[in-house]
Amino acid sequence: ALKIHLDEKGSHIKLRSGESSDNVDYSDGLSTRVRVTGRIHRLRSQKDVIFITLQDGYGLLQCVLTGDLVKTYDAMTLTLETSLEIWGEMWEVPPKQHAPDDRELHADYFSIIGRAAGDKEAISTRVAADADQQTLLDNRHLVLRGEHSSAVIKVRAAVLRAFRQTYEDIKPSCLEVTPPCMVQTQVEGGATLFEFDYYGEKAYLTQSSQLYLETCLPSLGNVFCVAPSFRAEKSLTRRHLSEYTHIEAELDFISFDDLLTHLELVMCSVIDTVLAHPPTAALITSLNPKFQKPERPFQRMRYADAIDWLREHEILNEHGQPHTFGDDIAEAAERKMTDIINRPIFLTHFPVAIKAFYMMKDPQDPRVTESVDCLMPGVGEIVGGSMRMSDYGELMQAYAREGIDPEPYYWYTDQRKYGTSPHGGYGLGLERFLAWLCGRYTVRECALYPRFACRCTP
Ligand code: 4AD
Repeated sequence: ALKIHLDEKGSHIKLRSGESSDNVDYSDGLSTRVRVTGRIHRLRSQKDVIFITLQDGYGLLQCVLTGDLVKTYDAMTLTLETSLEIWGEMWEVPPKQHAPDDRELHADYFSIIGRAAGDKEAISTRVAADADQQTLLDNRHLVLRGEHSSAVIKVRAAVLRAFRQTYEDIKPSCLEVTPPCMVQTQVEGGATLFEFDYYGEKAYLTQSSQLYLETCLPSLGNVFCVAPSFRAEKSLTRRHLSEYTHIEAELDFISFDDLLTHLELVMCSVIDTVLAHPPTAALITSLNPKFQKPERPFQRMRYADAIDWLREHEILNEHGQPHTFGDDIAEAAERKMTDIINRPIFLTHFPVAIKAFYMMKDPQDPRVTESVDCLMPGVGEIVGGSMRMSDYGELMQAYAREGIDPEPYYWYTDQRKYGTSPHGGYGLGLERFLAWLCGRYTVRECALYPRFACRCTP
C-alpha cells in the first residue's frame, strides 16, 4: 500500500467511513488527516472533480480533488508522472466503487514537487506488447514506471529472497559466496567470451562461477552464489542476454540422482515460498493468470529418448533433417518438445561431444555425461547442471580433447590432486526462471536494464 506520512503528532491514522461524512469520532485523539507523496500514475479530470491515482513504489492510492482545489492553475495543468504532496482525509471508498486498497484520499491541499514534461506519458503506461520494441528499450527508465514492468522487478526481488531462504533452510544448507566476475579461464566455451585488457593481460568477464564454487567445497561445504554471468551471444533470441543473473550451487559427496532431487526440491521450495507471500502471489497472478505450480516429480527423460521423441514427432534439426544421436537439440526443437509435453522436464545424459569439458561421464555409458538441463514450457532450458569430473587424469585428457591449455586452470585441477570427491552442481538463469513464472515473452522483460547483442544502454 502507498506509504502514509504520519502527521507531526505521530498519531495513527483512522480510516473515515465513506458512508457518512459526520461519523468521525475525534475523542480518541487519532488523526484522520494524512500527508502522502508520489507521482501521478493515472489522471481523470472532470468539471468539478479530479481523480488522481498516486504511485510511490509501495502501492497506489486514489486521491480526489474537489471544490476550490480543482479550479487552481496547478490542478488544471497536471500531467502524468508529476510528483506531488497531497494532504487530506482518508476515506473508505463508497459502496460499489473500486479503488486500490478500498480507500481514497479526499484532498484539502496539494502542492507540486516536480512537474513532468507530459511528452512521454504514453511510454510508462502503454502495454509493452503494443509499442515499438526499440522505443520501449530506449525508454526503459520510464517503462519501469509501468505496472507490469515494475511488477516483474518486484517478483524478481521476491524470487531472489526465496532462493536465499531455501539455501539456508535446505539440509544440508548451502553457504552464499561471492566469486569474481573478472577471470582468466573459460567455462562454457570460447565462442561466447567477452575479452578485455587487464593491466596488459588477457582477461574475460565470467561465463559461470562454477569452477570457483568447486574450490569452496572442502572448507565451506555446499555453496551457492548469485552473480552476473556474461555471454557474448551472437544470436538475438528471446531467451539470450549478454549479461544475466546466474544462480549457481555446488554440492559435495553426492550422486547424480542426489543432484536431480536437490534441484527439484530447490525449485519447488522457491515457488512455494513466493506463492506463500500474498503480495507476490497477487503480482504473479496478475502477470501470469494461468501459472500452475509444477507437479513433482519432474519428468525425467534421457537425451537419447528425446532424440527418438523428436523423430517420432517429426521435429527436424537445425539443418532440416531428422534428429540423430549427437545433435545439439536447438532452441526451436527444444521449445516445441517442452510445449507439447507441457510440464517441467529433466533432460539428462547428453553426449560428451556436445557438452562442456568438465562433465563427468556416465560410468554405464561413456558416450554420455551425467548432465541435466531443466526445461520449462514456454521458455525451454532454465537450468544446466552436471556431475563434475573428479579424476585428475581424466580431466587432463578433457583439456587436451577440447584444446584447452591446462596451465591457467592449475587451481581448478588441484581440486583433483588434494582430496577429490564426487560432486556436482548447476546454474539457473534468473531471467529465464522469471520469464516462465511471470509468463513473459522474453527474458528482456525480466532484467532491470537488459543487455543483449548491440544493446548496452540505458
Ligand atoms: O547451461 P549453462 O551454460 O551452464 C553453466 O554455465 C554451468 N557452468 C552452470 C553450473 O553448472 N554451475 O548455463 C546455465 C543456465 C542456463 O540454463 C540458462 O538458464 C542460463 O544459465 N543462461 C542464460 N540466460 C540468459 N542469457 C544467456 N545468454 C544465457 N546463457 C545461459
